[in-house]
Amino acid sequence: MQKILTKEEYEKRIKCVRITKEEIQAKIKEAGKIINSWYDGRPMLLVSVLNGAFVFMADICRELTVPVEIAFMKAESYSGTNSTGTVNITLDLKQDISKYNVVILEDIIDSGRTLKVIVEKLKERNPLSLRVVTLLDKPSRRKVDFKADVVLFTIPDFFVIGYGLDCDEYFRNLPDICEFQA
Ligand code: IMP
Ligand code: MG
Repeated sequence: MQKILTKEEYEKRIKCVRITKEEIQAKIKEAGKIINSWYDGRPMLLVSVLNGAFVFMADICRELTVPVEIAFMKAESYSGTNSTGTVNITLDLKQDISKYNVVILEDIIDSGRTLKVIVEKLKERNPLSLRVVTLLDKPSRRKVDFKADVVLFTIPDFFVIGYGLDCDEYFRNLPDICEFQA
């Protein structure tokens, strides 16, 4: 079962701010412009991978000025700060994506396993096109080959929390991206 943190324990785990909310917002605006330019107003489905990308989705979708539908998938592979290596899709799309240009929004690419599984699964359904936009990328941690179309920030190998990212479901509400103190 998950440990309940006291306020003091909670605060001790936030080591330092690594990317400020202002830096995030500046990159979100740039990424929004790129996505707006992609499909010339043709049907776009923005798919956020829960839970981590929920804040990213909320900010990116408000930068878009073209017709867009939003949808959510859920993938689970982590326990605390460790990847378990197997990826389970626990929430799937209902849409027939053969009618859409699909843009997947992810919080972070670490081993690459989660997105590899999601992209393979969605490609089998023949979307008009499929692209991946990730807030963060930790390329030094890759276990399987995977490259996103757009990366907002590339970071070294440390565990991050905040702006949607968690450790054991805590810290998602922090406005900045912070380093986790183990
Ligand atoms: P991957 O399958 O190893 O690429 O991991 C992707 C998922 O692991 C992300 O969607 C996150 O939910 C989680 N994850 C990986 N690294 C971190 C981190 O530094 N902080 C919080 N979650 C992470
Ligand atoms: Mg997570």
